[in-house]
Amino acid sequence: MNQTTDFTPASKADRLVVLLEGIHPSALEALTRDGYTRIKTYEKALSGQALLDAISDAHFLGIRSRTQLTAEVLQHATQLAAIGCYCIGTNQVDLVQATRQGIPVFNAPFSNTRSVAELVLAQIIMLMRGIPQKNAILHRGGWTKSAADSYEARGKTLGIVGYGHIGKQVGVLAEHLGMTVIFYDTTAQLTIGNARQMDTLDELLAGSDVVTLHVPQTPETENLIGVSQLATMKRGSHLINASRGTVVDIDALAAALESRHLHGAAIDVFPVEPQGNDALFTSPLIHFDNVILTPHIGGSTLEAQINIGKEVSAKLVRYSNNGTTTSAVNFPEMAIPEMRGGSRMLHIHKNVPGVLAKVNDRLSDASINITAQYLSTFDTIGYAVIDVDRSDIQAVVEQMRLIPETIHCRLLN
Ligand code: NAI
Repeated sequence: MNQTTDFTPASKADRLVVLLEGIHPSALEALTRDGYTRIKTYEKALSGQALLDAISDAHFLGIRSRTQLTAEVLQHATQLAAIGCYCIGTNQVDLVQATRQGIPVFNAPFSNTRSVAELVLAQIIMLMRGIPQKNAILHRGGWTKSAADSYEARGKTLGIVGYGHIGKQVGVLAEHLGMTVIFYDTTAQLTIGNARQMDTLDELLAGSDVVTLHVPQTPETENLIGVSQLATMKRGSHLINASRGTVVDIDALAAALESRHLHGAAIDVFPVEPQGNDALFTSPLIHFDNVILTPHIGGSTLEAQINIGKEVSAKLVRYSNNGTTTSAVNFPEMAIPEMRGGSRMLHIHKNVPGVLAKVNDRLSDASINITAQYLSTFDTIGYAVIDVDRSDIQAVVEQMRLIPETIHCRLLN
């Protein structure tokens, strides 16, 4: 595709930003603070013709998880320079098509890390004190004042499976409670505090009073915790899963709770989750008073929403202002230094041999001197950022657009 008609206006004030789905006002604030004033906001997700109309002339588009940016929809958005998913996932965007159109897609994968970690910390304390079952008994009119099966977290061992962003935060918080932290991860990790990495999952399971899971959803983590792993856990220990529903075999967990091998569990994510707030939730775990069930809200806090608004807007602004694509999910990632005079060209092209030579030839033919050049490729596309010593280069930008492999060529000055 050679989109010679598209052009992102040079002035920020002329670039149209469309924000759908009631994105948190922190997003708007971040954009306006940086000089973006042409911003249209919509409170709800749009679909069909309403969506096409809303995005047809947008240069930057912000969505959350409900807006479906299919290939057909994206093809109508001929002016689009970048998409911001103001959420964690990007499944709602046809990333292959976005890449094909030279549109980087940004999201906010770590804005809710702390929210998950705090919930897990609370669950550790609640489970170790036996609060879920006591709470349930009182709700039914009972009264069980007793210290039986009620423990402090201090001095106990927390086993973290998946020592990534969330796992590390949980480890730090748990150490502040006086817990001993061990973890298991398939990759070598920089240890925070006094945490110790275990060589095997079984070693971790056998040594922990509470096991908490923070792995991604992959074929390898499907039913990572099943019958045999639950049997390896200490008798009377607890399991927490706020990662992905596929990681735990729920029937096996129900059996381990039924036999009292496990003393309790806290589960935030499920193999099958209701599709909306009106849908029915069902699980073998609903019968257990000693299980804390939450509706996949580990990361759902106001602070996370504020952070997401700021983080994604900052990524859009960086790309719009200077071409930086760090953490784009479908695009060559480059952190580009600020411009120092002259002009900058963002050239997005098909990833085939010889394109850069053609670009440089055009510049050389126009006697334009390159002051800096950055190139990265990802899958089917290449991304070149070229700084030159002049600002009157609109004619050569038009030449760039005529190179058959060009997808986009944007000028910043
Ligand atoms: P991350 O990518 O920073 O960390 C994941 C860690 O798991 C990595 O260190 C990786 O090496 C490790 N890992 C991968 N496969 C493994 C295996 N088979 N065994 C042991 N370790 C393995 O991810 P992050 O941000 O910490 O998120 C963790 C999980 O939490 C993800 O599944 C994410 O989807 C979920 N999540 C859930 C939320 C909720 O609302 N409940 C909110 C945010 C994230």
